Amino acid sequence: MLDKRLVFVTGKGGVGKSAVAAALGMVAARRGRRTIVAEVAARDDVHRALSGGASGGFAESELADGLFALSVDPQAAMEEYLEDQLSRPLAEVLKGSRIFGYLAAATPGMRELLTVGKLWELAQPDRRTPGAEPYDLVVVDAPATGHGLALLNAPRTFAEVAAAGPVARQAGVIQATLEDRSQTGVVVVATPEEMPVNETAFLRDELGDRLDLVVANAVRPDRFDDEEASRLAAASGPAARLALVAHARAREQQEQLRRLTPDAVLPFAPVGATGGADLERLAEALEATL
Ligand SMILES: Nc1ncnc2c1ncn2[C@@H]1O[C@H](COP(=O)(O)OP(=O)(O)OP(=O)(O)O)[C@@H](O)[C@H]1O
Ligand SMILES: [Mg+2]
Repeated sequence: MLDKRLVFVTGKGGVGKSAVAAALGMVAARRGRRTIVAEVAARDDVHRALSGGASGGFAESELADGLFALSVDPQAAMEEYLEDQLSRPLAEVLKGSRIFGYLAAATPGMRELLTVGKLWELAQPDRRTPGAEPYDLVVVDAPATGHGLALLNAPRTFAEVAAAGPVARQAGVIQATLEDRSQTGVVVVATPEEMPVNETAFLRDELGDRLDLVVANAVRPDRFDDEEASRLAAASGPAARLALVAHARAREQQEQLRRLTPDAVLPFAPVGATGGADLERLAEALEATL
């Protein structure tokens, strides 16, 4: 898994995709892979989670030894692409115009293609950005389910509308990388709840053998066995009632875990007052399965 060049992390909204992507990046960097965790969206969650609050923006920034983070923005990716392909003055003119908005609105899959093109570029041994060092591994904190799939299939979608020309050729090269299991992996994250588990089943169908790893996240321990539970049920008082509620929730989780059949199980591990995930604990749990 960590020997691939691109690993996409997707799943239902809010299940811990950013946390798992960050923890995955930590594990890879510790194993000596020069790794970048790239968030797709302008929100920069990964950088904030890993750096304890500071926003890193659209520049590649080093957070720990061999671990970098970046937020990928389609507009910035477009500007980079124009600068690379055209003379500087012409690129400047196009950047200043509203052409990007028009093109993106008129061309299905173009935003996703630019985004995925940037992710692909990060993982190329010979990066087109002058002076940029390549990464061994790009962990993509991808958007939730539907948009995540759109990203993984963007070059194909684009090729269907623009059948010829240099962009279509480049899209073909990128799609080949995305569909090559030795180079690209997909991780689906779910919490042990009905809807995230349903979305995982959907993603399993859509992705087929492109899916490498199903991660159950934020799993709480079940502290009581059946006998203890019935003794709790017979007891009175608020503490016993709270314990029973926790027990019932753990039971429901177990049921959902049976449906999910995950490859890795990560604990519910909040830290401090901020409540964000304890990435160190998630990395430890992942380390054991990778
Ligand atoms: N194992 C965990 N234990 C405790 N808290 C967690 C765990 N995993 C994630 N969290 C917390 O849950 C919240 C949602 O996690 P995260 O932002 O990683 O989800 P996401 O799937 O990336 O969400 P979005 O779809 O909005 O991008 C965050 O506050 C995060 O710190
Ligand atoms: Mg996220």
